Amino acid sequence: MQLQDEAIAFSYQNALAQARPDEEWKLAVEMQLQHFVSPARLKALMPHLMQVKTQVATERELLDPPPSLRPLDAGFIDLPDKLLVDQRRNKERSDLSRIQNVASRLRGEVDRVVILGIGGSYLGAKALFDAIRSSYHNELPYESRMTIPRIYFEGNNFDNDALQDMLELFQATCVNPDDTRERWATILISKSGSTLETGAAFRILRKEVAELYGPKSEMLRKLIIPVCGAGDNPLRALMYASGYTDEEIFTIPERVGGRFSVFSVAGLLPAAVMGMDVKALLLGALSTTKQFLEEPFERNIVLQWAAINYLMYEELHKPIRVMALWSKKLESLGMWYDQLVAESLGKQGHGPTPLTAVMTRDLHSRGQQHQDGKRDKLINNIVVRTSRSAPLAVGMSDRNEDGLNEYSRKTLPVLMEAAHKGTNEAYYEVARPTTDLTLPQLSEYTMGQVMQMLMLATVVEGRLMGINPYGQPGVEAYKRKMRSILRSQQSMNTQNVAVERPQTVPG
Ligand code: PA5
Repeated sequence: MQLQDEAIAFSYQNALAQARPDEEWKLAVEMQLQHFVSPARLKALMPHLMQVKTQVATERELLDPPPSLRPLDAGFIDLPDKLLVDQRRNKERSDLSRIQNVASRLRGEVDRVVILGIGGSYLGAKALFDAIRSSYHNELPYESRMTIPRIYFEGNNFDNDALQDMLELFQATCVNPDDTRERWATILISKSGSTLETGAAFRILRKEVAELYGPKSEMLRKLIIPVCGAGDNPLRALMYASGYTDEEIFTIPERVGGRFSVFSVAGLLPAAVMGMDVKALLLGALSTTKQFLEEPFERNIVLQWAAINYLMYEELHKPIRVMALWSKKLESLGMWYDQLVAESLGKQGHGPTPLTAVMTRDLHSRGQQHQDGKRDKLINNIVVRTSRSAPLAVGMSDRNEDGLNEYSRKTLPVLMEAAHKGTNEAYYEVARPTTDLTLPQLSEYTMGQVMQMLMLATVVEGRLMGINPYGQPGVEAYKRKMRSILRSQQSMNTQNVAVERPQTVPG
């Protein structure tokens, strides 16, 4: 594997106000001075940025943090390294080998896998699936999928019809539950083990599996793989009650928060089932961590991303952060980053609002606003330099009714590149800041780098803002209200039954 050639790159030139004394005065230059980061501002941030970098690096070691730092979920930073070292030392007994072994068993035994989970317990896996696998993976015939099952995501909503649609699909396709080509399995992921969306979906699916194989069958334990947090945990308790041993339950390590868990079993088990090279993922993540810890600002993408994004939000008053993905296959990465930013930085009345856009699709919906609307946005472009498949050319037409013959030799990647460059130039001229994060190609190694980079940069940004990036206390509010509404409905139902009962009992 030529890992060096796969290094991601970051450029923020189009967000930086350039000093141009010889240039004649132009409104555009004046506007850029107002809306772009000046080199002086960036320089002034350096002492604070370096202090935060040291703090984030030190937090990795704090196993018992002081109350002022809690929650502290810095375990994700060294996790890729720990998993790789563990496998080198402990071979088949390592966590990674266990993940790979269960994944390959599942791939041999079933043809559909549903991943139940919400938020950090599925968004990372979904981002990887969409980025790496064929856009039509589930539609491909068995032979073309090379033993990789069809993949579904559920347990992330209370949407009755969506879950029913999936049940109907499984009922229609799993007529003979002993046939591995018809069989389906469930990976159930919940760190807290108490998330209602996931738990409710699991009960419904488990009933379905129990009807196929019997409620106490061995097969149930083979087809339902639980992943939860360590220690006292309702999901773990449920699994023990169903006869599972600790070896049959996967554990998301302590000190690894939900939205930072993509390189724990929560992301790696689904990735391995999807046929991915999980070691390459971890090596990509590890290379970003090393760069973050060891390199100066000029070669440190984490610090650059954090600094520019922080200054744009905090000093240049750009609360909207658009992640513009120049590949349809990265839309779910955008959704994953939405959660990362919203839950990590949206606290105490602060925090940028993340927004996912897919280009060029959304140039035809949001482009007008980006070019000409309120000056409240930073646009972070994510660009894939080389497409995985051979470039498709527009081609010649005899009569040229549509007038496209002048582009006949152009390929889709060439058109995409022109659109990206043209959009950046158009924004630059009217002082709309953009940055470019470039992936040489879509692979496990580049996805590993990008995801670890965005997690680290979000933590750095939180610390720069004086906000704890870990934990999500605000999310608890809706859960409390929802549960209290459900309880009050329950007690009303009980009262109604009590009132109605005397009338139905014959006297
Ligand atoms: O970042 C987080 O911790 C959350 O977004 C969780 O991932 C999400 O709420 C799901 O929680 P759980 O895995 O406990 O079901």
